[in-house]
Amino acid sequence: MTHATHSADAAARIEALREKIRHHEHLYYVLDNPSISDAEFDDLTRELQRLEHEHPELITPDSPTQRVGGKPKEGFAKIAHSRPMLSLDNVMSEAELRDWDRRVRSLAGEGADIGYVCEYKMDGVSMALQYRAGADGAARLERGLTRGDGTTGEDVTTNVRTIRSVPLSISKAKLAKAGMPQSFEVRGEVVMPLSAFRKLNADREARGLALAANPRNYAAGTIRTLEPNIVAQRRLDFYAYFLLNERGEDLLPEQAEALDALTTAGFRVNPHREALPSIERVLAFIERAAQQRDQLGYEIDGVVIKVNSTAVQRHLGYTGRAPRWAVAYKFTARGGITQVQDIRVQVGRTGKLTPVAVLTPVSIGGTTVSRATLHNADEIERLGLLIGDYVKVERGGDVIPKVVEVVEDKDHPRGHREFRFPAHCPECGSEIHRTESEADYRCVNIDCPARLRESLLHYASRGVMNIEGLGEAVVAELLDHGLVKSIADLCSLTDAQLAQLQHEVTTTDRKTGQQKTRTQALVGPRERKDLLAEIEASKKAPLNRVLYGLGIRFVGERTAQLLADEFGSMEALMSASREELERVNEVGPRVSEAIREFFDESRNRELVHRLERAGLTMTAEKRRKSSQLEGLKFVLTGTLPSLSREQAKAKIEAAGGRVSGSVSKETNYVVAGEEAGSKLDRARELGVAVLNEAELEEMLARS
Ligand code: IVH
Repeated sequence: MTHATHSADAAARIEALREKIRHHEHLYYVLDNPSISDAEFDDLTRELQRLEHEHPELITPDSPTQRVGGKPKEGFAKIAHSRPMLSLDNVMSEAELRDWDRRVRSLAGEGADIGYVCEYKMDGVSMALQYRAGADGAARLERGLTRGDGTTGEDVTTNVRTIRSVPLSISKAKLAKAGMPQSFEVRGEVVMPLSAFRKLNADREARGLALAANPRNYAAGTIRTLEPNIVAQRRLDFYAYFLLNERGEDLLPEQAEALDALTTAGFRVNPHREALPSIERVLAFIERAAQQRDQLGYEIDGVVIKVNSTAVQRHLGYTGRAPRWAVAYKFTARGGITQVQDIRVQVGRTGKLTPVAVLTPVSIGGTTVSRATLHNADEIERLGLLIGDYVKVERGGDVIPKVVEVVEDKDHPRGHREFRFPAHCPECGSEIHRTESEADYRCVNIDCPARLRESLLHYASRGVMNIEGLGEAVVAELLDHGLVKSIADLCSLTDAQLAQLQHEVTTTDRKTGQQKTRTQALVGPRERKDLLAEIEASKKAPLNRVLYGLGIRFVGERTAQLLADEFGSMEALMSASREELERVNEVGPRVSEAIREFFDESRNRELVHRLERAGLTMTAEKRRKSSQLEGLKFVLTGTLPSLSREQAKAKIEAAGGRVSGSVSKETNYVVAGEEAGSKLDRARELGVAVLNEAELEEMLARS
């Protein structure tokens, strides 16, 4: 086969693969409805990666392999918007909304047919995506701009490209079906799904980092990160809600049509949307949205109501900063004002002391909140908080409620009592300690009863060993009865032991109003059976979860997974040196020290052995890191400017590639340095790609 046909075949296969991958990306990331397995999807991606490596000249920026690219060199450029990105006026009540509706109707004039489109107001950051004519009649994502000051935004294209629900290109056929031109602009909201937000925060907590307040802040911070790799890991999502032409004008006569066209073109458009003829129907929509608010996988803070006809929109125009033709009905914030009755200090499973505000109970977004975290001593100082103060409490993304600020006005006088951080552990009276680099104090006693309690709760919790039914009450009783002295004791609990657990119930006699207290089994026979079955089932959890369950400082879900993949057994991990540990991605000195410290403690090693005897999983399949060099063959020749032959070989192998001694047809790349000899000639003869050291480094950096 001649070189030309060879590469024509490859080009066809590459294009076919790209279309297939785009199709499956759409099913998975936009419609949440995949039709093939992850493994099959990975296979397609790997085949494409391999072909693109063999034919680097065929790589195009809209290839699904090119979502994560280089970082912007000098920060984000500021670029003018095609038309200002405005904000919306808010209404907070039915009466205000009806006023708005009346204004719209009177301004639109007698006889104007006013219909509305209702959409959810997603709580994220707004974004403008510009698509321009690409090859073969397709549209290609050219630029992503943040709102910025409304007139100019920041060019965050490199980051937006990593969002998998943002199409990098849209085929001619799709555009035709959607009735869209090759060049257009889409505006919408970048959001962080709650699942991603919770995961991130759980991981941050395990690693001793400060928690993010809500998904919106996280999304906003992420989209402005200068590291596309990190952005890609954060699993952001994009919901489209405006379709404009390239000059920023309306493209279609109706908003409802625009949303449908965007859906057809492959964008994620919130399915909770409706075109409605009257404000009565709009109010009913808002009512339903408020009820659904807690069942969605993302945060919404209201409903946006837009006039459907774009002609009427133009007629209505703008007031200063906001359109007259749209309004945001805002839900009451999930915050409330209440008084701090006390500040208590809780001891966590790693001995960390967390100050918690005890609040006068207040209802926030349907749940009663009586406690809110204050994170650490520095945070109390930052807030200037005194016991007795009134504070604003927020519940963002339904994480632990947080004190946002101290409120002071004529209805809310300041408190008086200053809080002093205790000098000793409030649970066991031991010394507490804080290292210079950390914000937190810790109880030094590894036998502190609070640590055991929290360790047990962590071990049993969802996402760790998933032992349903082993909550605070049961754990407290187990400890009280001395039935459990370590995590391992959970594995051998019996029905008879659980039957010993009791609690007091107080009942009031309906006739006499007298109160009676009696003790009753805490866990009924049926629940005991279920709980024991849950414990049995938990023993089958894979190594990474067992490891996570041990509650080692800084070893969160993700780190545990990486460690299990790398070491393949608890045994290997327990005997790994700090150096070996730090070879694992994302494991730095702090983490390696915590792991060593944990396993150097003989009681912890004993715990692991007991768990092993109880039948828990202590090995895992070593997983090879998937990478772009997977399956590629390299030959090294000559003297490279900075890497030794061994170093280059190690780097290639670490990225999944193979290094062999002689050049053949099977060779994908020859890496040549100074005074390369016959191998280089042979490579040229066979048409094998030749790289210098810089190109090799670049390729490694990309994988
Ligand atoms: S329309 C000029 N539709 O809410 C029209 N905005 O308070 C402005 N938002 O900046 C935007 N979901 O970030 C619109 N379905 C939706 C929305 C939405 C969320 C955000 C957007 C905007 C802010 C306005």
